[in-house]
Amino acid sequence: MKAHLVTLLSFLVAAQAFYLPGVAPTSYTKGQTIPLYVNRITPSMRHTDAKSKTYVYSYDYYFPRFHFCAPEGGPQKQSESLGSIMFGDRIFNSPFEIKMLENKTCSKLCQPIYSTADAVFVNRNIRAGFKHNWLVDGLPVAKAIIDTKTETQFYGAGFEIGAVDNSNVAHLYNHYELVIEYHERGADEFRVVGVTVNPYSINHADPSNMKCDTEKSTPIVLDQGKDTKVTFSYAVFFVPSDTVWATRWDKYLHVYDPKIQWFSLINFSIIVLFLSLIMSHILVKTLKSDIQKYNEVNLDDEMMDEMGWKLVHGDVFRAPENKMLLSVLVGSGVQILLMSITTAGFALFGLLSPSNRGSLSTVMFILYAVYGCFGSYVSAALYKLFQGEDWKLNMILTPTMIPGSLFALFIFFNFFLIAVKSSGAVPIGTMFAIVLIWFVISLPLSAAGSLLGYKRPSVTLPVKVNQIPRQIPTQPWYLKTPVLALIAGIFPFGSIAIEMYFIYNSLWFNRIYYMFGFLFFCFSLMLVTTLLVSTLLIYYTLCNENYKWQWKSFFIGGGIAAYIFVHALFLSKFKLGGLTSVVLYLGYSFVISVGVGLMCGAVGFLGVFFFVLNIYGQIKID
Ligand SMILES: *[C@@H]1O[C@H](CO)[C@@H](O)[C@H](O)[C@H]1NC(C)=O
Repeated sequence: MKAHLVTLLSFLVAAQAFYLPGVAPTSYTKGQTIPLYVNRITPSMRHTDAKSKTYVYSYDYYFPRFHFCAPEGGPQKQSESLGSIMFGDRIFNSPFEIKMLENKTCSKLCQPIYSTADAVFVNRNIRAGFKHNWLVDGLPVAKAIIDTKTETQFYGAGFEIGAVDNSNVAHLYNHYELVIEYHERGADEFRVVGVTVNPYSINHADPSNMKCDTEKSTPIVLDQGKDTKVTFSYAVFFVPSDTVWATRWDKYLHVYDPKIQWFSLINFSIIVLFLSLIMSHILVKTLKSDIQKYNEVNLDDEMMDEMGWKLVHGDVFRAPENKMLLSVLVGSGVQILLMSITTAGFALFGLLSPSNRGSLSTVMFILYAVYGCFGSYVSAALYKLFQGEDWKLNMILTPTMIPGSLFALFIFFNFFLIAVKSSGAVPIGTMFAIVLIWFVISLPLSAAGSLLGYKRPSVTLPVKVNQIPRQIPTQPWYLKTPVLALIAGIFPFGSIAIEMYFIYNSLWFNRIYYMFGFLFFCFSLMLVTTLLVSTLLIYYTLCNENYKWQWKSFFIGGGIAAYIFVHALFLSKFKLGGLTSVVLYLGYSFVISVGVGLMCGAVGFLGVFFFVLNIYGQIKID
């Protein structure tokens, strides 16, 4: 019970604190202890040879088979925000003793013995590129890297647990040289402004008289044929720095070559904007002349033949098939859309800084729960417009169908994580908190949204629906829904394709994501292209006397989902290690693509809906 309370409390704290720019600075006095916390051991995408695999799940730092040194009295878990736990952070204390301004050249940690089975396990994970993620004063312990192009130094968060040498032998890093950069603020007031590590593999010949000589030493290799005893050690050096506390994250947020990205994006967006301008120009012009023609013409049989979209005026607002499902899906899409827009907005204004661990995911989760009211509102209003009768079912399905499926998948993936003893498995307490939030926040808000949506007067339709449905002429193959969806999906996908790489890296490999301005730009571009493409394609469909635009517009908007999924497959390079990695990777890629698909589907549908309302509102029907 205590754990639940801590989870809930820390979640509340995180939810309240998200508008603060980062965390408050800590000043240390000389000799004051600076705690070092260890987070989970995360996978990375490194292929040392043709046989090495990528894993997409992480382990606890104190997972017994790693034998990393624990503090006296056993490791203690640190409290974290809900989002942080959901996305896999598992933070513990550590045995490192670091005191401000006190250098240590060679301190012993512990001397575990690796059995042959554990040696196999650790060697496999060294080859797969698993990484340590330590935290000192809220900063990730990093490796200093030189960008060869710009010749600038930057920090890559985390460091490998070992290395593979030229003759393909795996070495375990057992000596950590920590370099802590401090900034002197005043008399006996120091702040930590950078933490880097140089990891070494040293075979300490005489553990009772260790030298920690990083230059003249042989590396340690875990023997897969017999037990190996390893001595862990560390060193700490304090170096002064001019960096001030406020800018200490700058070195971590390094973009390899910002010019290339912006260049390709601007290139692409100019093309998209240009095409969109031409497209909308043609569309508006055609529509204007259409409307003029329709409103002038005396009903004359010859003209009737070429009248295009006006012909279907008596059917264009006919309720679609499966109106329940469509309204629920559009409602769920709106919920995701609003969550994404708000999160991107928060991020854009720097409110979700990387120093607030888990703030991004917590905010997304809370927003998703709260925006259930808007989703249900849209769903109910649409269902009413479609003259649906079973509004109670609609009220129940909207907040349960998509979130419920998500939660079921989440639990399903959790079983796989438990099976491989990954730290990513979400504890029962957190599961409980998620369900509780959903019941307490999401359900009542959704019910209120549903009622409001159902009570509000429906949109007045500009044209009446005929009694007898019109026959739809045979459609050419390229106007069939799957073809249109595939054609349409390319454009919005193009606008976010570059971003997907970074998002996947931060999702699977714990990279820090920070290019929020860039993301916001791509995101907007994606929505605009979705709107334009859906409208244009539905215009052609209507001109071909096919009035069933509702599902079509949803699928045309959602066509991007197929591309996102296939792109994710290629990003994995088909080198996933083990069933769990495959299931998790495919599963989460599926969830993401469906989520984006629902969102863009809703955008497509609503955009086209207003387009149709507008054009049919401008013609005279006798
Ligand atoms: C600690 O080590 C650093 C790096 O070697 C050195 O510059 C600094 O002077 C040392 N500090 C003390 C107090 O010895």
